Amino acid sequence: MSLLVKGGTVVGPTGTRVADVLIEGEKIVAVLDPSFSPTITVDEVLDASGKYVIPGGIDAHTHMELPFGGTAASDTFDTGTRAAAYGGTTTIIDFAVQRTGEVVQDGLAAWHAKAEGECHIDYAFHMILGGVDADALKAMDQLVADEGITSFKLFMAYPGVFYSDDGQILRAMQTARENGAMIMMHAENGIAIDVLVQQALAKGQTDPIYHGITRPAALEAEATNRAIALAEVAQDCPLYIVHLSASQALEKVAEARHAGRNVFAETCPQYLYLTLEDQLGAPGFEGAKWVCSTPLRSKHEPHQRDLWKGLRNNELAIVSTDHCPFCMKDQKELGLGDFSKIPNGIGGVEHRVDLVFQGVVDGKLSLERWVETIATTPARMFGLYPQKGIVQPGSDADLVIYDPNGTTRIGVETHHMNMDHSAYEGVEIKGRVGTVVSRGEVIVADGNYHGRKGRGKFLKRGLSSYLM
Ligand code: URP
Ligand code: ZN
Ligand code: ZN
Repeated sequence: MSLLVKGGTVVGPTGTRVADVLIEGEKIVAVLDPSFSPTITVDEVLDASGKYVIPGGIDAHTHMELPFGGTAASDTFDTGTRAAAYGGTTTIIDFAVQRTGEVVQDGLAAWHAKAEGECHIDYAFHMILGGVDADALKAMDQLVADEGITSFKLFMAYPGVFYSDDGQILRAMQTARENGAMIMMHAENGIAIDVLVQQALAKGQTDPIYHGITRPAALEAEATNRAIALAEVAQDCPLYIVHLSASQALEKVAEARHAGRNVFAETCPQYLYLTLEDQLGAPGFEGAKWVCSTPLRSKHEPHQRDLWKGLRNNELAIVSTDHCPFCMKDQKELGLGDFSKIPNGIGGVEHRVDLVFQGVVDGKLSLERWVETIATTPARMFGLYPQKGIVQPGSDADLVIYDPNGTTRIGVETHHMNMDHSAYEGVEIKGRVGTVVSRGEVIVADGNYHGRKGRGKFLKRGLSSYLM
């Protein structure tokens, strides 16, 4: 099957140009000056004139079916990857979980069993380490060498669940420095947060808003700084701070990066668009929709301005969703009367490409930086480049024809995620995902779905291109 994507403006990390993209089977075979293409015969032509042609989005942070607080994230690999496709994402990197006390490889096998035969788009895994001991350290080596898992997430938060202490973190970082893996860090001081949570509950402060109030920016910045220091002690182990939300944490990352350190960070659309005040203004228990960790920050502080600036100047490398959806009914409701029991997470895998494009419309980001933060850098950061993340000959034919003149209105009535609400209800984007091509196959066109469950392939990843 051959396909010609004709007349679009191809956007890459280094620039834009009007070009035709020739696809044979699953691969891009040429990016052509339009004057050459009339001589080519193909099976199908997709008209992209007036549109952007970008690499398929790569969401480097999702949690399909993540067990959390006595329930599990409401999107399966089937529903979540289909929704991702609708939103122009053609690859996800999900987090496989080693529960505390579990053999790492058993946790990985369980994740493969959840995903295999279910995914609509290609997928890869990071590994959450729920317990760092001698066996887990050996398992890290094995996963890097044999399984294509080259990044490991540790938690400085959630004592008693996923939490690692500083000694465990240092050991994992030393192992990663040796085998080339990336350490991904949930950087919040969970011990201090737990004290604040207990104090709030003792005062009868049980509403969802106290989730954010008991997770102050200072404790995100402290943990970020500590993670950076531990990585330095581990011979500059590559460190990636996940879901960064606060200006104070960004300052720590910026300082390390300016010093030439192997430190990277992502933020998420919820921190770029939503605030603590959205939660405050919500009636009754509705604020639970916005409970996530790190939490939403106040609009009266300069977090959002600083995060956009960080994205512009590469202090922040990537926008991922941290897609971790829970329905209000029977899930978020577990925290009625006690905010600490609300499962943490916001769903947004379908909206990332659009929400970051709105930053282009608003003059906060260049077109090139849009593509870089949603596709090219995730591919490079997590060992998928150049198979993914770029429109160039030899790469997988994963691309999105994006209409800058379209409109997207986000809401529970129209989204495809398995959620009974939307954290972005009513948000309007000037731009729209038109056609989505995954390995040469049109899976979304004009809002209609043509993909199928099970067509997504597991991707074994290499080491990060940013490794020094
Ligand atoms: O609130 C969040 N972020 N839930 C998902 C788990 C995590 O820490 O990433
Ligand atoms: Zn986290
Ligand atoms: Zn997460």
